[in-house]
Amino acid sequence: MTLDLDALQTRHFDALENRYAEVLAAQGYDRLLIYSGRPARHFGDDQDASFQGYGHFQHWTGQAELTHSWLLVHPGRRPVCYLHAPDDFWHLPAQLPDEAWTERLEVTPGHYDEAPPSVAGGRLAVIGDVSAATSAALGAELNPPALLTALDEGRVRKSEYEIACLSEANRMAIFGHRAAREAFLAGGSELDIHLAYLQASRQRESVLPYGNIVGIGSHAAVLHYQHYDTQAPRERYSLLVDAGHRYRGYCADITRTWAGAEADPLFADLIARMHDIKQRLIAAVAPGVGFVELHERMHRLLGELLVVSELVSGSAEAAVESGITRAFCPHGLGHLLGVQVHDVAGRTACNGIPLPPPVEHPALRLTRELEAGMVVTIEPGFYFIPLLLAPLRQGTAGHEVNWPLVERLAPHGGIRIEDNVRITAQGAENLTPRIE
Ligand code: GLY
Ligand code: MN
Ligand code: MN
Repeated sequence: MTLDLDALQTRHFDALENRYAEVLAAQGYDRLLIYSGRPARHFGDDQDASFQGYGHFQHWTGQAELTHSWLLVHPGRRPVCYLHAPDDFWHLPAQLPDEAWTERLEVTPGHYDEAPPSVAGGRLAVIGDVSAATSAALGAELNPPALLTALDEGRVRKSEYEIACLSEANRMAIFGHRAAREAFLAGGSELDIHLAYLQASRQRESVLPYGNIVGIGSHAAVLHYQHYDTQAPRERYSLLVDAGHRYRGYCADITRTWAGAEADPLFADLIARMHDIKQRLIAAVAPGVGFVELHERMHRLLGELLVVSELVSGSAEAAVESGITRAFCPHGLGHLLGVQVHDVAGRTACNGIPLPPPVEHPALRLTRELEAGMVVTIEPGFYFIPLLLAPLRQGTAGHEVNWPLVERLAPHGGIRIEDNVRITAQGAENLTPRIE
């Protein structure tokens, strides 16, 4: 695999050089400096928070952990990496990996945490988390919006190299998901499950693409649940794990929900039905399909699920129309995926025109038409969220809801099933291997 990956990476790098040259020429810039970023320092301390590098820096380098470093793109010349690697006996100085792209660069190690490299000549733009004072000292234009829009657009359709990295991130994440399920079935706590995930997927917590979501029982209803209970609950109704992996910068974002020993049989049935909904949505993925329409289709399928399971009376269409399905699923069907777990340009058309989400679906992060080369998540879900169910119960649509059944199932929290899907010329390719 390594040799192929080298060849793919070389082509990816060629395409990046060409695309950046075109964009910079079209917008009248001679050079572009990309800053990897800096970690936040804990106030009054000498310790830093976990860090994830700037997306456009990672697009070239795949380096998510490289701090205080800069990439100079100067069309017609070798890109220069100003690698922040000061002599330091407290830490191991940064090194670039032995990958195909590193041979393409001129690498200038140095000390760049106080000041950026000095680059002279022509019209310069600088992008990233850079202060106005630093940008002014460079004589640069800081984060020009039109330039950022064009560069974001260059990340939407993935190269074969990027697909290989996303596939590898998925492959590794699956080891974690299997171990998480086993730890749950063996009686582990949320923390035990989280640690089993990290061990099996070979990651330390600080390099995860996002904090693992590990919710047992009602915690599964908290969409971005952020704690890990150290004690296992007595009743084990359910487990939701939303966890990924990062390979050369590229993220996996995968969710599974499992029924526990004390699960209501109807809940296990609902999980199976949610897998089916996910599969049906993936089968509908193809170039030219609008993601807003696909999201609305998810709501129709959720409406059918609610009716068939007798959680709601009346028709599936009425459950969608009255907002019942939105009370059970307030998040979007999915989002673009890449070097950021919620990748850029999901709400901007390819011509740069903003595409805001429909007012009734404000959390939808992807509103454009699908195109071959995109990678998206497909993550239908269904939850018992007290904050959303209370107003539903008081409104007129609440009469359609089978509240005793809701109360019976609420200790299970909810269900989300999430895969990572590449849009191909023919339809879709699921990058997420089977876990079950
Ligand atoms: N893991 C965050 C998400 O699914 O969007
Ligand atoms: Mn997720
Ligand atoms: Mn996701």
